[in-house]
Order: sequence, then structure tokens, then C-alpha cells
Amino acid sequence: MKGNKVIIFDTTLRDGEQTPGASLNVKEKVKIALQLDALGVDVIEAGFPRSSPGDLEAVRDVAKHVTRPIICGLARATKKDIDDVHEALKKAKRPRVHVFLATSRIHREYKLRKAKGDILKIAVEAVKYARKMFPDVEFSPEDASRTELNFLAQVVEAVIKAGAGTVNIPDTVGYSVPQEFGGIIRHLMENVPNINKAVVSVHCHNDLGLGVSNSLAAVLNGARQVECTVNGLGERAGNAALEEFVMGLNMRKDVFGSLSTNIRTKELFKTSRLVSKLTGIVIQPNKAVVGDNAFSHESGIHQDGVLKKRVTYEIMKPQDIGFKGSRIVLGKLSGRHAFLNRLKKLGYSLSGGELDQAFTRFKSLADKKAKIYDEDLATIVEEGLATVPEKYKLVDFRVTSGNRISPMAEVILRKGNEKLTASATGDGPVDACFKTIDKAIGRRGKLIDYKVSAVTGGKDALGEASIRVAFKNKVVIGRASSTDVIEASVLAYVNAINRLWQKTEGRR
Ligand code: KIV
Ligand code: ZN
Repeated sequence: MKGNKVIIFDTTLRDGEQTPGASLNVKEKVKIALQLDALGVDVIEAGFPRSSPGDLEAVRDVAKHVTRPIICGLARATKKDIDDVHEALKKAKRPRVHVFLATSRIHREYKLRKAKGDILKIAVEAVKYARKMFPDVEFSPEDASRTELNFLAQVVEAVIKAGAGTVNIPDTVGYSVPQEFGGIIRHLMENVPNINKAVVSVHCHNDLGLGVSNSLAAVLNGARQVECTVNGLGERAGNAALEEFVMGLNMRKDVFGSLSTNIRTKELFKTSRLVSKLTGIVIQPNKAVVGDNAFSHESGIHQDGVLKKRVTYEIMKPQDIGFKGSRIVLGKLSGRHAFLNRLKKLGYSLSGGELDQAFTRFKSLADKKAKIYDEDLATIVEEGLATVPEKYKLVDFRVTSGNRISPMAEVILRKGNEKLTASATGDGPVDACFKTIDKAIGRRGKLIDYKVSAVTGGKDALGEASIRVAFKNKVVIGRASSTDVIEASVLAYVNAINRLWQKTEGRR
């Protein structure tokens, strides 16, 4: 056990990006990494370089722009994977390679078809090979929580001896429960002779909704690094949510004593919104800590209690996580100076071009909407930051709809110098628009998910459309906002097409 600091290892850009439908381009990854830096995370797992050239580039770019935290790349226990992480991180200030190999009987027999002895040998060789290039090596026995305890202890001891400075114990399939998982960590702390030479880390998935609980149980038993993601994104049901783990530790000092993290909790809300915006994964309203309802009180008894004394029904202060609530700040008559000032207060610093673009968007929104709230400003800025190339641009759309006619849409798009026009009918005005766009671009999208939510209250609120569309086997997200929800939907569809273009032709 090393001190009372719990290292926060953020894997939003790696495991988080494995969330079905979430995909980030390189610039978006860098934007998130810069915010993770502002949040105070200690380690950023920026990607899995061997998985694609795009991931290698993203890890390299993150390391170029973000120099305070350790930047980590994932590798299977093979030379090629480790070489690729080295290639991506050769200019990083504080590089780390994270090597993983499954150890559980299920994975050994069905996935790897290897005996225990082979696993031990491959793990040790991989760590030794990695240590030749990296001073900082982390090893993960994948599916650790379903691995025989004695074998797990044997692997952990061997990789530490081979040079791993961090051993990460993943609950890969989110199967463990807190008492059991805490017991696994305790067993390792008590039975691995060289355990003090490494930091023990945990990586808990959320298949049973226990990712954060298991991580908290682990730190009570000696783990000093927690791998987590913003908004709990991640493979399947996701990973332990960073904001929940950190606030759990902070709020319950009576249980966790002096255990603490370097996280600046006032940055949590902003980070959560940025990740949601760029990944396109909407935060459920009742999500702990950062959900829209986390600080709303619906019942009269609760409202009365909070008005009398906040602590009756509120365990955290919204301000502690940087949640400022809806505030009318600007309007039609507000000038550039007031706009810039408010953005600064919200923690945004934009370059000249970005600021011009955001101000233009603000002015056109203020023409349609009397009161501009902080949330509107955040939407304006973050949409401007979303760096999807506008290969296809919406020029014009028209839609007629009613209860006795078939909705019909006409759309004009621009692709470079080419003008694409089409018209089609659909089951509703939005469906008609989407079908028309499909016709114009000559592709067929299958809508998997469609949500429209209001950014703030009021009839003139900005509506944010968020969609997930499958074009054959490629799933992309799209997101856009407007005071007109049909326009927001059309723009979100065009945004999805641009993401598809970026994923396919754009890469080439
Ligand atoms: O869930 C898991 O086991 C992982 C490993 C690569 C650490 O993501
Ligand atoms: Zn994982």
C-alpha cells in the first residue's frame, strides 16, 4: 500500500470509446484529454495503437498536446502491440504501456487455448520486453476476478518481478460483488511477497451496476489506482464512473479516512458535458452526480426540506461539482465583451476563429430566443468545438406535414462544389427529411436511436437532437441543436453523415 493518494487512471478515450456507437476523431480525443488534464486525472489511457492507424495517431497527438499526466497506450502481450505503443509515445513526456493478457480458466481454455504455464511465460516475457522501452509498465491479468486466486497471485508476483510498476486487477465482465472483490485485493496484498514494489490498480466494469462499489471496496483493501471513465462510458454496461468514485471517496471521509484523489471536482460537470457532447452518448437524467436530476427536488416534502435546510435531502453541493444551474446571462442586446466574459467565467478559452464562430452562433440564437442561459452557451461552444469536417452541408430544407397529408420533404445539400437535391415522403416530418437526405447522398441509413431534449426550459428552448444511424455495418452518431427541433434533427443527420464520411473516405 503506498500512501493515501488514489491515482485516477482515466480510460474514457480507450475503454470509454468502446461504448457501442461512441466514436471520437483525433481532434475530439485531444479536446477531451485537455479537459481531463484540467480535471486533474493522473493517467490518461489514450487508446490502443495496434487496433487502428487512427488510434495510434490519437495516442501520439494526445501525448503531444497534454504533457502533465502520464499518457498510456494499451497493448496485448505481443511485441508488435508494444512496439506500436512505443511508436505512438516515443515523444511523450511521461509514457506508459499497459500490457494485458487473460488469466481466467474460461479465457485460457476457450479464447487463448493456453495452459497456465504458457500464460505465465507470455506475461513475463511481454513485461520484460516492454521494460526495455518503457520505464513505466502496467500489467493487467484480464478477467482477473474470475481467475483462480492462487494463480492470480502467482502471475502478479511474476510480472512485478519482471518489472511491472503497476498491476491492474480487472473485473472484466463486471461479475464480482464488493465484498468478494475487496477480498481479492486483500488476498493479493497479503500473499504476494513483492506486492509493495508495485501500485495495485483496479478496473471494474458495470454489468451488475457495481463498478463504483467494487472500486471503493478495492481501495479500502489496499488498491491505490482506480481505472474509470467519465459518465461511466465503456464496453457493454460501461466502466466505473470517475465522478461517482471520486465523490464517493470525498463525501464519505468517515468510511474512507484520508484516502483522496487529485481531482478538481469543480471541473466534473463540465467534463461530463463535454464527453457527452463529443461522444454523442446522452447522460441519463437520473445519473448519479452529473445527471440533470441529480440536484432537482420534485416532491413538495423534499422541496420544503431543502428550503429549510439543504442537508435534509442533498448530500452534495451542486457547486462542488461545478454545476451552476440555469442562469439567464445574456440576450439579444449583449455584446461581444459580455459574451466573452461569460465564457471565461464558464471556463472556456477560445481561439480567435473559434470565438468568432461561437459569437455568430450566439447572435443568431439570440434572435430566436430571448433568454440565453449558461447551458445554451455551453452548447454553442461545444458544438463549435466538435471537429467533424463539414463534407456535406445543409443548404436548405422544406417540409410539409399535417394530420391528413403524407409528410413530404425537400432538401438541398452541398458536397464541395456539388449541389445535391432530393425530395421524398415519410412517416412523419423527421422521417421524410431523413429519407430525402438518404436519397440525395445515395446511401441508406437505418435509424437506431433518436432523442430530442431541451437544453433549458421554456417554449423557445434549444432542442438538442441526438441520433444513432447504421449505414450497413457502420454505426455513427449525430448531434445538433436548434430552436426548431426538425432543423436540429436534420442537422444531426447531416452531422452523422459527415462522421460516416470521416470514418470511411476521410481516413483514406
Ligand atoms: O476490462 C478489461 O479487462 C480491460 C483490460 C484491457 C484492462 O479493459
Ligand atoms: Zn475494460
